[in-house]
Parts: sequence; C-alpha cells; structure tokens
Amino acid sequence: MTDQTPILTIESVEKSFGTTAVLQGVSVTLHEGEVVALLGASGSGKTTLLRVAGGLERPDAGRITIGSSVVFDASSAVDIPAEGRNLGFVFQSYALWPHMTVAANVGYGLRLRGASAADREARVLAVLERLGLGALGNRYPHQLSGGQQQRVALARAVVYEPPIVLLDEPLSNLDANLREEARAWLRELIVTLRLSALFVTHDQVEALAIADRVVLLNRGIVEQVGTPESLYGDPKSLFAATFLGSNNVFLVMLDPTSKQADGTAMVSCGPHRIRSTLQSNSGATPASTAAIRVERVSVNPDLNVGPDWTSLSLQLRTSLYMGERWEHVFDLNGHAFRAWGTRRLEPGRHSVHLPVEGVWVF
Ligand SMILES: Nc1ncnc2c1ncn2[C@@H]1O[C@H](COP(=O)(O)OP(=O)(O)O)[C@@H](O)[C@H]1O
Ligand SMILES: [Mg+2]
Repeated sequence: MTDQTPILTIESVEKSFGTTAVLQGVSVTLHEGEVVALLGASGSGKTTLLRVAGGLERPDAGRITIGSSVVFDASSAVDIPAEGRNLGFVFQSYALWPHMTVAANVGYGLRLRGASAADREARVLAVLERLGLGALGNRYPHQLSGGQQQRVALARAVVYEPPIVLLDEPLSNLDANLREEARAWLRELIVTLRLSALFVTHDQVEALAIADRVVLLNRGIVEQVGTPESLYGDPKSLFAATFLGSNNVFLVMLDPTSKQADGTAMVSCGPHRIRSTLQSNSGATPASTAAIRVERVSVNPDLNVGPDWTSLSLQLRTSLYMGERWEHVFDLNGHAFRAWGTRRLEPGRHSVHLPVEGVWVF
C-alpha cells in the first residue's frame, strides 16, 4: 500500500507569532501513498504547520522538502511560494466561491494552470462523477448540503492530481452522523486516488480511523508519532495516554524494589497493591501517575484471572446506563474509578480486575 519513499519532509520547523512560539522544532515525514493525521488540541499549532508546509506561512527556521525538491530552507533562503509547490488544499471552511457553479469552482485551479476548456471540462466531469457529484455541476454552493459542499472542496483540491493533499479539519463542519459516514468515504477516496495526505484534526477518533500514522502535537511539539494502534495501545507519555480514549488516572507510589526485567512493577494506591507496566522514562521517582483505559477494566465475576491480573475489591458508588453498556463508578482510595460492563450491578463491593499490561505508570 504505502512504500517508504518520503514525499513531504518537514524538518525542525519553528514558527513564532510575536512572542508566542507556535511550532517549536517540529519534524514530520509523509511517505508516498500515506495518510498522516496531525492530531492535537485547539491551539496546538496544527493549522500553522499545514500552512507552513503549503507555503502559506513562512517558518522562522527549518527545512521542507517535497519529493526531491527543497521548497523551504531557512539557512539558504530557499522559499518556493505556494503555487510552485503543487499541493491540493482543503480548508476547514471549504472556501468555495459562492458566485461560481460547482463545475466552475472545481475547474478553477485547472484554469489557473492553463488547461484548455475541453480538457478542463473532461477532468471536472470525471472528478465530480468520482465523488458522487456528477449531477450537481451546474448548481451553486448555497444549493448544496454541507456534505456536498465538503465533497466539492475535495474535488477542487484533487482535480489536477496533486501528489499531496493538505486537509485542515475537512469534516469538522459536518454534523455528527454525516461526519461518521464521511470518515469511511474520505479514507476510501484518498486510498483509491493514491493520494498522499496530511490532514489536521482535533478529533482523536477521526485521526485513528483515517490515518496510517498519527502525529500527536502538544503545544507546538511532537509528543509521539506512530500507527493508530501503537499510539492508542502504547502511549509513551501521560499526555499521549490521556489525550486518547477514556481513562482512569490515579496517583500511585512505585515500589522500586519490585521492578522486573519485563518492565512491570508493583505500585500502591492507598491500601491497594497493583501490578503495572512502566512506560518509557517512567518510574524515575516513586510518586507516579497511573492510567488505565476504561474498557480494559473488567467487572466480569466469571473472568478467569491469571497471575497477570490484579483483582481489587472496590465499593460501587453508582452506575450509569449508557445504552450499549453500563458505566460503573467505583471508589478507589477516595477517587472515582470507572469500568464498563454489560449488566447492572448490585450495590456493595465488587471484584474489579486490571490486566498488568493495561495499567501504565508514567
Ligand atoms: N496569524 C497569526 N497571528 C498570531 N497568532 C497566530 C496566527 N495564527 C495562529 N496563531 C496562534 O498560534 C497558535 C496555534 O494556532 P493554530 O495553528 O491555528 O492551532 P490549531 O490549528 O492547532 O488550533 C494559537 O495560539 C493561535 O492563536
Ligand atoms: Mg486549526
């Protein structure tokens, strides 16, 4: 599917606005045919990084290479403007021209590039067909639904077959139902068109679902890069762990003498002793923070727990019915500790089971 040829390389990019350092030495590589998500909270620098890659914003330092061409190098004053970088852009706002038809919006970039009228018409028609917009070429943007406008914005970005598309929160203006459908549609489209895509989102599920790799940004610094599975299943910092999923986070004391060669150790939380896994750079001090994804906590009384599990007897505080599951809230040393289950629980104490590989210590 993807090979390992870099098509876009961003190296050690820095960007400040006034005294605010927005990008603090960011490096990201996009390979041919790959979909990379830039994931981060609002204000973490995602849009700035995308604009820097596209030549819409000038970084203070760093180097950007597209294919084999250096398009920006702060040390040698190379700075190819946006139109020379041959990238497709999809902005959060769609930015369609309201006075132009769908076909004219989509063909605009081809016109700028000097394509003949006949060539333009054929290519616009082909891309509209491909995106399921074949019948809408003569409509104006205000005559389209949000989902259709979003497709037009994408059609406009891909019509001249740029090797790379940059997408800034392309689904965030869609309502929740449409958005979930659009994930599958967008992923399928990027893959069938064999595009390389760098897309920005603050939505963790969107990033995990659509991307081959995820770059997690934390205030202008790359916190972790990896496949969706590795980021979700093996976070290297407390920030990365808690940015994704639903978690129980609690303070623990690490018993330094209990560290095993396999990276596991015992921690205590009040009267409880818990088998846990030390994540990178963790366990430097006895006072640590532990996290476990809520779905990894089990309250199944029939569970056959082996030596790799810790079983705690915890008081049930309350239970919430969530439709497809129950959420049970227990008391762990005075703090709420959540678990999901498929049935109602009686009031009182219950055995709560934690797998050692699911309890991460940072
Ligand atoms: N043109 C600008 N002038 C001043 N500050 C800016 C400008 N663009 C972005 N910023 C600031 O940079 C930070 C990151 O913004 P942005 O890249 O848009 O983040 P994100 O897309 O992750 O929400 C924010 O604090 C924002 O206010
Ligand atoms: Mg943004």
